[in-house]
Amino acid sequence: MDFELSEDLRMIQATARKLADEEIAPRAAQVDEHKIFPMETMKKLAELGFLGFLVPEKYGGSGLGNLALVTALEEVNRACASTGVTMSVHNSLVCSPIVRFGNEAQKQKYLPRLAKGELLGAYSLTEPCSGSDAAALMTSARREGDTWVLNGTKNFVTTGSYADVLIVFVRTNPDLALKAKGVSAFLVEKTFPGFKAGKPEDKCGIRGSDTSSLFLEDCRVPAENLLGEEGKGFNIAMDTLDGGRIGIATQSLGIAQACLDAARKYARDRKQFGKPIGDFQAIQWKQAEMATELEAARLLVQRAAILRDQGRPHAKEAAMAKLAASTMANRAAKEAVQIHGGVGYTRDFPVERYFRDVRITELYEGTTEIQHLVIARHLLKGGK
Ligand code: CAA
Repeated sequence: MDFELSEDLRMIQATARKLADEEIAPRAAQVDEHKIFPMETMKKLAELGFLGFLVPEKYGGSGLGNLALVTALEEVNRACASTGVTMSVHNSLVCSPIVRFGNEAQKQKYLPRLAKGELLGAYSLTEPCSGSDAAALMTSARREGDTWVLNGTKNFVTTGSYADVLIVFVRTNPDLALKAKGVSAFLVEKTFPGFKAGKPEDKCGIRGSDTSSLFLEDCRVPAENLLGEEGKGFNIAMDTLDGGRIGIATQSLGIAQACLDAARKYARDRKQFGKPIGDFQAIQWKQAEMATELEAARLLVQRAAILRDQGRPHAKEAAMAKLAASTMANRAAKEAVQIHGGVGYTRDFPVERYFRDVRITELYEGTTEIQHLVIARHLLKGGK
């Protein structure tokens, strides 16, 4: 067992850190304030190969895997969580399921362009009436010759109005009682007739990322764009979220690290009662706890990423990583604001943004409550 990153991973980390510090962080406040979708940064990430970590070399990616992805993704999220979630979704929720479930033609058609950033991806499971109970989704697909005709409304789709290709989960069997077994996955291109993205949500945090509804009105999808087997879409959705949850856990690490860095600096600079506030034990303890919880969560994230890379079971471990990292990061953001006092509640200091951004980590890709449910179900099944 070795807790050090390999030489290659350290190089990826250094490259990501340089980009994060020199180009992403300086723009993050603007991206947040003016809700600027990080398109330019996505191009830079693509140039570095950061959009193709999960795509095999044969299809134009690096194939370096999830551990490499989380190593770079933490740095990007430390600088800007809006950019971080856009990168995470593209890699984990779009490239990954095409690699794992796509046929050869689909892989050849989409993966090289996704890895190069020529196409942006999105994943669409949620609907107005089905959030945590994802298998209750109602968007329908009926077969007409060589085409599937999709009808329904999706919401909370990250990158929904910028994506060129979207993985959309719909019901190919109209019997609602079938729940998960009636669901299939499709690769939908934004140019398909009947596809329309709605107005982006005005969010509390990660304001530079795009979160939109989708309207599918007799949207015609070629039958060859069915991803995986008909009726197996829910399994694809869940397998994909196992990877996605590692990505959101990583986002939590990045935000928490940014909180700790900001808190340390402020505690050294700010003087009260004639000395830096960092000299007081109350402030020292907060930082000690933040650092300890962050290191523990990082180990859970790395373990889940390694298990996924090894093709071993990891649904419980991914849920644990997300649960631990997101609750840790929310605590870290609260304490970082507390250490800053009143100024931490103003836009003059970045902790105010971290405090808003971090809240989503306990909500998307499965709420904290859903992570508990997933972990408990695995425990009750008699696993470790
Ligand atoms: N991998 C593969 N298959 C899985 C699986 C996994 N991890 N977990 C479950 N399945 C399979 C089951 O084996 C079962 O299939 P079979 O019948 O063939 O065996 C099928 O899926 C149904 O499983 P369940 O009976 O466990 O399903 P359920 O209805 O009880 O739901 C749930 C389980 C965990 C609650 C699930 O609904 C869930 O994860 N809910 C949260 C949804 C979520 O995370 N949404 C986020 C959307 S994306 C997003 O946030 C936006 C973004 O873009 C960032």
